[in-house]
Amino acid sequence: MSEQIKPKVLITIFGATGDLAKRKLYPSIYRLVRNNTISRDFAVIGLARRDWSNEVFRDNVKESVEQAFGECERLDDFASHFHYQSFDVTDDTAYDRMKELVEQLETQYDTEGNRLFYLAMAPEFFGGIANSLQEYGLKETPGWTRLIIEKPFGHDLESAKELNNQIRAAFDEEQIYRIDHYLGKQMVQNIEVIRFANGIFEHLWNNRFISNIQITSSETLGVEDRSRYYDDSGAIRDMVQNHILQMVALLAMEPPISLTTDEVRSEKIKVLRALRELDLEQVHEHFVRGQYGAGVLDDEEVVGYRKESEDLVFSNTETFVAGKILIDNYRWAGVPFYIRTGKRMAQKQTRIVIEFKDIPMNLYFKSEREHHPNLLVINIQPDEGIALYLNAKKSGSEALAEPIELSYKQGAMPAINTPEAYEKLLYDCMIGDATNFTHWDEVALSWKYIDPILEVWEKEQPNFPNYESGSTGPKKSDELLSQDGNHWWEV
Ligand code: BG6
Repeated sequence: MSEQIKPKVLITIFGATGDLAKRKLYPSIYRLVRNNTISRDFAVIGLARRDWSNEVFRDNVKESVEQAFGECERLDDFASHFHYQSFDVTDDTAYDRMKELVEQLETQYDTEGNRLFYLAMAPEFFGGIANSLQEYGLKETPGWTRLIIEKPFGHDLESAKELNNQIRAAFDEEQIYRIDHYLGKQMVQNIEVIRFANGIFEHLWNNRFISNIQITSSETLGVEDRSRYYDDSGAIRDMVQNHILQMVALLAMEPPISLTTDEVRSEKIKVLRALRELDLEQVHEHFVRGQYGAGVLDDEEVVGYRKESEDLVFSNTETFVAGKILIDNYRWAGVPFYIRTGKRMAQKQTRIVIEFKDIPMNLYFKSEREHHPNLLVINIQPDEGIALYLNAKKSGSEALAEPIELSYKQGAMPAINTPEAYEKLLYDCMIGDATNFTHWDEVALSWKYIDPILEVWEKEQPNFPNYESGSTGPKKSDELLSQDGNHWWEV
């Protein structure tokens, strides 16, 4: 992170008592302040319906920071910058009161009128809030005004357009930061660097040398206490429309002519435009859905999705998706991008495997079956790193080869203090760098790709549950690859 610009800012968080604020935002702001990445001239306004005092709010902020990092220095001083206002989005007087507080804190903390509004609450309020911020003059300031919007950004293309129009009526595209926290992850940002800073890969990065690319983002957690949101969403909206398609775009894009926001985004947009749209009849051939049943995870028995809450008894929501995505352009024609994501799977892991095409003749293996193609593995989490699988001579007198792994683990480097995704993205927003946020065109194109899948799935009754908790998903997910002569790499 740049040491030079230390933004001064007043952050207003809508949804300040929510899970995201507690788990991610407060710890991230703490790190930004403690590491002197942002100025000590900062303040945070927390808004939510609960009738909290500043003291209760500050205790919560301190607690969430301690939960994230253990005992922390100067926590009282840090928390003293946090102010709470009980806020009902439907009450018009709330915005006048908020404006008063904003102006008062701006003077008190000398934040130069820089205002960051963070919408971390139910999406049905996003449009209304954006408009009220405009209407009540909260955008009129000598500094900058930016709006961070959490997902879900719409429910399908139509609703996303509607939401975007509402927000754009009040904010310019340059002021809107649609957050996708995967874009703040170190190793997701590394995809570009690994590709474009290494001569050895870029020449091979195309359909002549790559057989297929696999992206897995699996979680061991179930739906937890988010069933209200999740059941309406499902894995395809929750993970594929955003995080996974963003990773596809980064893996497939052309080298940008420079690293400016516009150039990087426009290359990603070109990839999303080239995704082969699925006809309704093709959906089953390309996409598999699943829902977890009971099973065993870490030696503990866990219940199936439908037993997680009373409302889920008849749920047809998918907690797993696997898909085969094709990109119709010169570089990628014919190379499948296999993706899968699911809850309650055997491990928590996000990983990309690039499988290179095999050599034409097998000289060093006893049988074709032992043959191991070259793989480049990008481990996004939990172990951040990369690994390259090559074949080398087995020790002994025979001329036989065996796969070996060259690996680099980010966490193994001394003194690396990897910033959390949210920390990085909050800072980017404060310095006006929208490169790692999603442009509207990216959101729209992603929905355009997903919509036909949703349309087919919504019409059909799935046979759920179809995978056990603690497994790698439904059998059909394996068949998706085996029908092409491929398989998921569990390396
Ligand atoms: C969120 C989803 O966007 O990403 C969650 O809403 C999911 O359902 C989470 O658990 C996964 O994020 P991470 O960073 O833990 O991989």
